Amino acid sequence: MLDGFVSVMATSELPPGDMKFVVINRQRVLVANVGGVFYALSDICGHAGAPLSAGNLTGYVVECPLHYACFDARTGKLITGPVSADVPSYEVRVEADTVYVKPPPPP
Ligand code: FES
Repeated sequence: MLDGFVSVMATSELPPGDMKFVVINRQRVLVANVGGVFYALSDICGHAGAPLSAGNLTGYVVECPLHYACFDARTGKLITGPVSADVPSYEVRVEADTVYVKPPPPP
């Protein structure tokens, strides 16, 4: 167990090129595997609140399923789309085949 982090999944549960959401402290967090490196973002698109985990992951680009805003999975930065805000990103660690995420601050 890593201090200040919570375990969210085994690395084997999310192959490269896949993403899915987990719930940490009642908040949806998107975990993405980009070429073997794990990243975590808010799963809630800042435009109209769509779940980004229901969109597409292409390389490091997460595309929102609703109006197709694109974010960088590595940083949460907006790349393009009808929204001006980035999505929050969270620290990730991998240790002993387990993915750990630093929980988002309370809403
Ligand atoms: Fe994501 Fe509109 S809800 S781009």
